[in-house]
Amino acid sequence: MRLGLGGRTVSGVRQTRGVRKIHVIGIGAGDPDQLTLQAVRALRSTDVFFILDKGEVKADLTGLRRDMLEAHLTDGTYRVVEARDPERDRSAGGAAYSPAVGDWRSARAGIYERLIAEELGEEETGAFLVWGDPSLYDSTLGILQEVLERGAVAFEYDVVPGISSVSALVARHRTGLNRVARPVQITTGRRLAEGFPEDVDDVVVMLDAHQTFRQYAQEDVDIYWGAYIGTPDEILVSGPIAEAAPRIERLRAEARERKGWIMDTYLLRRRPRD
Ligand SMILES: C[S@@+](CC[C@H](N)C(=O)[O-])C[C@H]1O[C@@H](n2cnc3c(N)ncnc32)[C@H](O)[C@@H]1O
Repeated sequence: MRLGLGGRTVSGVRQTRGVRKIHVIGIGAGDPDQLTLQAVRALRSTDVFFILDKGEVKADLTGLRRDMLEAHLTDGTYRVVEARDPERDRSAGGAAYSPAVGDWRSARAGIYERLIAEELGEEETGAFLVWGDPSLYDSTLGILQEVLERGAVAFEYDVVPGISSVSALVARHRTGLNRVARPVQITTGRRLAEGFPEDVDDVVVMLDAHQTFRQYAQEDVDIYWGAYIGTPDEILVSGPIAEAAPRIERLRAEARERKGWIMDTYLLRRRPRD
């Protein structure tokens, strides 16, 4: 048998008596209207929601998740369990970067294991609400796999895709990700700092705390930038990077100062070379 949501099968999770069930639900990148019907069905079949607070950002984001639950779950029979995400050692650079991420994931695996074992009954269904889409720069799936491999707690899980910040960004700018028959690359600010990818002209950049786009301000590149996309604070800027970069820098600094945190994503599009 497969685990159905509202009478429909969502994915290949087998339903076995006495084994905890978990949905990993992509909830979109900020706009509550981007919650899919499949996600709403998954919310409605959940007994316990796990919300991990990252501390620095993110009372705002936790609040948004709670608002979504209140909007879609009217009978109030669910439980919400909040936990503190461990801090990552962001000072580790270069070769130390991967071990630092590894330690952080293991610390999170310990927390997830405890949450599932202690807060979720054996006949119950839990859910992790993941920002954007769980497949993109999110560690929830890897961590759940690690928890399963530790073997201390058994569960089955499925994944409900969400609208990623990348989809939301290009939709707001009314453009596509790739040009005809061309590739697109999604990368991080840290990687972009090492150079513009050789064989790719369209590069989406996430997780960039350092405005790495400034490195390419003298090149034939257009930028499509968005911050807090889908939320009431959304800011969008696009144009030739030489003109747009100073504007983005100013808007970004003002917004960061005002809100105390920022999430931004951008597409760099190299103009055709002769
Ligand atoms: C840890 S990743 C999570 C990505 C997420 N899984 C997704 O599908 O969008 C966080 C990064 O996503 C991007 N991001 C997420 N939500 C955003 C939003 N509402 N506006 C702009 N960028 C966003 C930023 O680049 C941020 O640094």
